[in-house]
Amino acid sequence: MCGIVGYIGKQDVTEILLGGLEKLEYRGYDSAGIALFNEEGVHVYKDKGRIADLCKIVDFEVKATLGIGHTRWATHGGPGKTNSHPHQSSSGRFTIVHNGVIENEGMLREKYLKDYPFKSETDTEVIVALIEHFANENKADIDNVIRHVMELLHGSYALGILDANEPGVLYAAKNKSPMLIGLGDDFNMIGSDAMAMLQCTNQFLETEDGEFIRLTREGVTIYGMTGYVVEREPFTATLDASDIEKGIYPHYMLKEIDEQPSVIRRIVQEYIVNDEIVIEQDILDAVKESDRIYIIAAGTSMHAGYVGKQLFEQMAGIPTEVHISSEFVYSTPVVSKKPFFVFISQSGETADSRAVLVKIKKLNYRSLTITNAPGSTLSREADFTLLLHAGPEIAVASTKAYTAQIAVQALLAAKVSNEPGIDLARELAIVANAIEILTNKKELFDRVTKELLTHRNCFYIGRHMDYYVALEAALKLKEISYIQAEGFAAGELKHGTIALIEKGTPVIAIISQESINLNTRSNIKEVKARGAKACVISMKSISSSTDDIVIDDVHPLLTPLVTVVPTQLIAYYAALHRGFDIDKPRNLAKSVTVE
Ligand code: F6R
Repeated sequence: MCGIVGYIGKQDVTEILLGGLEKLEYRGYDSAGIALFNEEGVHVYKDKGRIADLCKIVDFEVKATLGIGHTRWATHGGPGKTNSHPHQSSSGRFTIVHNGVIENEGMLREKYLKDYPFKSETDTEVIVALIEHFANENKADIDNVIRHVMELLHGSYALGILDANEPGVLYAAKNKSPMLIGLGDDFNMIGSDAMAMLQCTNQFLETEDGEFIRLTREGVTIYGMTGYVVEREPFTATLDASDIEKGIYPHYMLKEIDEQPSVIRRIVQEYIVNDEIVIEQDILDAVKESDRIYIIAAGTSMHAGYVGKQLFEQMAGIPTEVHISSEFVYSTPVVSKKPFFVFISQSGETADSRAVLVKIKKLNYRSLTITNAPGSTLSREADFTLLLHAGPEIAVASTKAYTAQIAVQALLAAKVSNEPGIDLARELAIVANAIEILTNKKELFDRVTKELLTHRNCFYIGRHMDYYVALEAALKLKEISYIQAEGFAAGELKHGTIALIEKGTPVIAIISQESINLNTRSNIKEVKARGAKACVISMKSISSSTDDIVIDDVHPLLTPLVTVVPTQLIAYYAALHRGFDIDKPRNLAKSVTVE
């Protein structure tokens, strides 16, 4: 939710900010803006729309070596120009970009800013107004002014701040929202993630909640909550700039779907050494000592968690519950005596999941985060982390992270199992090959989608593991093609929802397990009898000659890894045929850092 970038150095800042913002666009793309600070003052360019639109209004003749930029996912106020960042204080002295949400903005307006001439509806303008308000009282020390304002703010923020009286300083502050510092020779940067700064550096410093940072061209000083100077070692990002390029692909989503076999193979390489699954002993002990696993996640990650539940229960015999993170915070169930919490999150930044983590930490429960983002908030704050090794996922619709999340859960479940279990190195290799065969059949999916998805709605049905994949398949279709899709337990359809089936309604059935094959096929007959246009995705060993998409067999517990792939491609082609922006669907953002 929103991306920020800032630079202070020697080079012209405009291209650096715009390049960084392009990489952050996955975090929101309602509006974008930059502020350039040179000897003439601070120049702000901002408007509704994408970075490409911003480029049309920026004056590239204006040269500056200090600046901040923002790409927005609207929370407070619509996506128009006035609500776009950067925001300036009424005198123009302070300019700010903000990622996060200020929960007590109403109270702050009321208490300190009654007569302030607000221009926007944003909570961000409250921050910049407060800075100006206190700077007018305490003219000498802007560091203290910003720190004081930080103390007053309740909520989440990553801030980049310019002070027109300080042409050699970029100020930053962080609480709950992600922010990294990028280090270079003769320059320093801030950014919501490393990708925004990779064009300039691969040396980074992490920041912690409550920290205030002063960046100059020559150095960076981080101050902790009570004003002490924090010493922290930089780290080198292993990301390569080419990892975040589309290459020959028209869309990141298609690239990421195609990357799934190599992601599965990489996971095997990372976690299996000499035929042994290698996972930190402390994690294994924590899982084994628990009497119940609680999987906490949102969206696609939650759907991967449903599959994980089956894996932990069937492979390791550990009772497992899956919870929507945004619900768990408020309607917390009675947990078992020795719970173990597993947070699944591609980004590691999802605010709903973090709220649960904060809550269960207070209760001294132990936790593991399964994430694609090392150093992310959920990773840092949980007791343990298992990485997905999926590489950056840029398309807003998650694909390779989902399959990676299932593969990593399978490895953990197999390792904590007391049974000899399945040979995951072999079985995951079979999975990778089966996915590769599917991704080589793009014309099939293109054609099936064209013929099938002619309506504004669609059903995915399945039982057991296939039901969980149906949920994910429907989400994928909804989020990028805007077709109203529902994932349904095939047996439940006749208990009400079948009333929605009419002539031509597309119903896609997933059949991966012998045990449910005949039952799901009966459900397909029921919907067909009511006029539905059916499409069947099945595994080879249980397929019928009339099935539309047949997948090479894999281990029955691992079928979601392959059955999801046709549904990802169907969603992709549905969006493509409708001419929508596949990588950046409307109203969404990749990293959901607001509750
Ligand atoms: C959908 C999608 C979302 C995310 C959800 C949680 O394609 O990506 O449903 O799964 O917002 O995000 P993470 O996994 O980053 O916690």
